[in-house]
Amino acid sequence: MNKEAISLLIHGGRIIDPGQGMDQLGDLLIAEGRILQVGGTVILSRSLERGEGKVKNLDATGLVVCPGFVDLHCHLREPGFEDKETIATGTKAAAIGGFVAVCCMANTEPPLDNAAIVDWVKRKASKDSVVAVLPIGCVTRGRKGEELTDMAGLAEAGVVAFSDDGDPVASSQLMRRAMEYSRDLGLPIIDHCEDKGLSDNGIINEGQISAKLGLKGIPATAEEVMVARDLTLAKMTKSRLHIAHVSAKGSVELIRHAKEEGISVTAEVTPHHLTLTEERIVREPPNKPFDTNAKVNPPLRTKEDIQALIKGLKDGVIDAIATDHAPHTVADKNCGLELAAFGISGLETAFGCLMSLVHQGEISLTQLISKLTCEPAKVIGRNGELGTLRAGAPANIAILNLDQEWIVNSRNFASKGKNTPYDGYQFKGKVMATIANGEIVYIDHSLVIARNEVTKQSHV
Ligand code: DOR
Repeated sequence: MNKEAISLLIHGGRIIDPGQGMDQLGDLLIAEGRILQVGGTVILSRSLERGEGKVKNLDATGLVVCPGFVDLHCHLREPGFEDKETIATGTKAAAIGGFVAVCCMANTEPPLDNAAIVDWVKRKASKDSVVAVLPIGCVTRGRKGEELTDMAGLAEAGVVAFSDDGDPVASSQLMRRAMEYSRDLGLPIIDHCEDKGLSDNGIINEGQISAKLGLKGIPATAEEVMVARDLTLAKMTKSRLHIAHVSAKGSVELIRHAKEEGISVTAEVTPHHLTLTEERIVREPPNKPFDTNAKVNPPLRTKEDIQALIKGLKDGVIDAIATDHAPHTVADKNCGLELAAFGISGLETAFGCLMSLVHQGEISLTQLISKLTCEPAKVIGRNGELGTLRAGAPANIAILNLDQEWIVNSRNFASKGKNTPYDGYQFKGKVMATIANGEIVYIDHSLVIARNEVTKQSHV
């Protein structure tokens, strides 16, 4: 992992910044950690002159230069589950995936339910992380759903949102109060929508596959009921609600209707819910009958749901794509389907996997980039510093090769979580470099730094 503050001229790339409506060939100049100039041809001032060893060059001909990605939803597992992931390994994985900022979920042990723990995560991240780590604080103490946390104290400690993710807030009254506090604090609640009574310890989507295989299903209704409740509460409390990992067509319609009514709601969808269906859990013989790596909560659903999710993305009903990176140990997954943990390790495959939607003409490249950059940045109110290539903003950049083909090999993941249903898949589209806050935090081996220069060797 390369990490150094530099002055860098990225030249000849296709610069795409959806927040500024920018899509043009040109140069981008970074100095002192900030974007100095973007677009057109950069003429270096004497002090920054090219070739004098002061400014390094990166030839981005044939590559896309865009804002670095912002992940609203990932599990870094530290403190407490360091066998699954640490802040160091998770954020390396993020950098490889093109992410410059990750919002880390609160279901650690202890959970992020008080200012001291949030402060500990921030200090640990400042030492171990190559990208920005933005903690999310719990809604309820111990994530138990019984009493609210000191939400004001958490806000003061710097959380960007509140969530009991992994579990819903079952009590409507508690959720109402949480929304009132979050409204007054100006922060969103990131809502894991699941009616546990309806999901009833189910394992996969309730539908034809669960019926055929005799597996306990989780109906789409388990999500939709909670989306409906919380949209109603958001309307009542005039608070800002963000719906996590939307998986069902019915939820998309509820959110669409709520937005039309003027309710302040945003929503995210994961790469896996956009690209895989419930069938993916079944394995071909001679393998074990089920692939536990495709067990995730909410479960993978149907083609019809995927179509609704894609339509929602295009229409603006769904604002952002978030990984829900949920790393687990081999032991957590190498067991029967009933016992296996829910979750997919997703930071390193997100972009490659999502590019399949672009290559298939399902969404445009600009739409994809916008859902990974300016839109998630807006949800957490960080759109001045994240998700933008505006001159003066901190240099948070991803450099992409849209045509490079590669095969997923989980053994090579920087993440400790090798639990991916995409192992062995061929993707077309790869992150070539990630610059976070002015530092190169990831660079593909085909881009080399030599003699004070960063030069493109080859782009397949
Ligand atoms: O699949 C999931 N895994 N869904 C969640 O909501 C939680 C997550 C985890 O923490 O492993």
